[in-house]
Amino acid sequence: MRTLPHSPTPQPQYTATAPGKIILFGEHAVVYGQPAIAVPVTHVWAEAIVEPGQGGNRSRILAPAVGLDTALDELPPTHPLSAALRGVLNTLGVTEPPPFSLTIRSTIPVAGGMGSGAAVSVAIIRAFSAFLNHPLPDDQINALAYEVEKLHHGTPSGIDNTVITYARPVYFVRGQPIETFTVPTPFTIVIADTGIASSTALTVGDVRKAWQADPKRFNRIFHWVGNLAMKAYRAIEARTPDVLGPLMDENHVQLQKMGVSSPELDRLVEAARGAGALGAKMSGGGGGGNMIALVKPEEASQIAEALRAAGAVRTIVTEIGDLS
Ligand code: MEV
Repeated sequence: MRTLPHSPTPQPQYTATAPGKIILFGEHAVVYGQPAIAVPVTHVWAEAIVEPGQGGNRSRILAPAVGLDTALDELPPTHPLSAALRGVLNTLGVTEPPPFSLTIRSTIPVAGGMGSGAAVSVAIIRAFSAFLNHPLPDDQINALAYEVEKLHHGTPSGIDNTVITYARPVYFVRGQPIETFTVPTPFTIVIADTGIASSTALTVGDVRKAWQADPKRFNRIFHWVGNLAMKAYRAIEARTPDVLGPLMDENHVQLQKMGVSSPELDRLVEAARGAGALGAKMSGGGGGGNMIALVKPEEASQIAEALRAAGAVRTIVTEIGDLS
């Protein structure tokens, strides 16, 4: 174990950011070993700033947006923020870090299915390890963020921390080597937020209970969804992204069968289709949060407007492609 001495020279401030994400195909089924596709969304992000402590020996954590201003030692070790920091200390074998102040900011809607928790963890782990002079590589950041995800919701697949750590599109199968990919023919997605906060822990738990009650039916649904994700991946590779529209529609039906959609999500999905989207589905844990629609680029703003008219509290238009 190492003790890092209080630095005699002023240490700089370390800042790291991490993007949000959307799941294009395969949420929930991915927890049960099926493939899923997720992409980063750089329009929203979490930021962690670590700087030397201002007097005193206690390290502070500030998250102004949620009114958090506390000493690190006052947070229980199972608190996700504390767990991210302690994960870095354990990995680096540091027992007594110099006092520091951590400030967290995020533009990712909380409990909206866009990976806010995972992005905060990744940003903290990246900034804090750099502050300790040992910036961790992506695979270690990802592994630590996954441990924190387990605190957020008991049985995460690991897709959120993976797509956010690597900030690249990912074809994800639980327990298999990470497969990031490039999108050869870009396509446009409108993301719309129902404005209803929903806990992924709850929806993942509900699906687990339903699966336990009727494993045969749910395994069939999961398998079906995994097939859709595979077809979608092939369509992306084959430069035929329009095919993703009907695949999204089918995926949404399967998510409804799992019981994780909601009237508000269904309304936005219908509104997107009615306004000319090529396909639409809820995205993420469900029960609220965000939905996505595949659109022709020239129709994106009119479909976004239709979604806001149907109750979306916020829309994002994003191109998934070379720049992702
Ligand atoms: C949440 O973004 C995706 C879920 O499939 C949960 C998980 O994969 O851990 C609902």
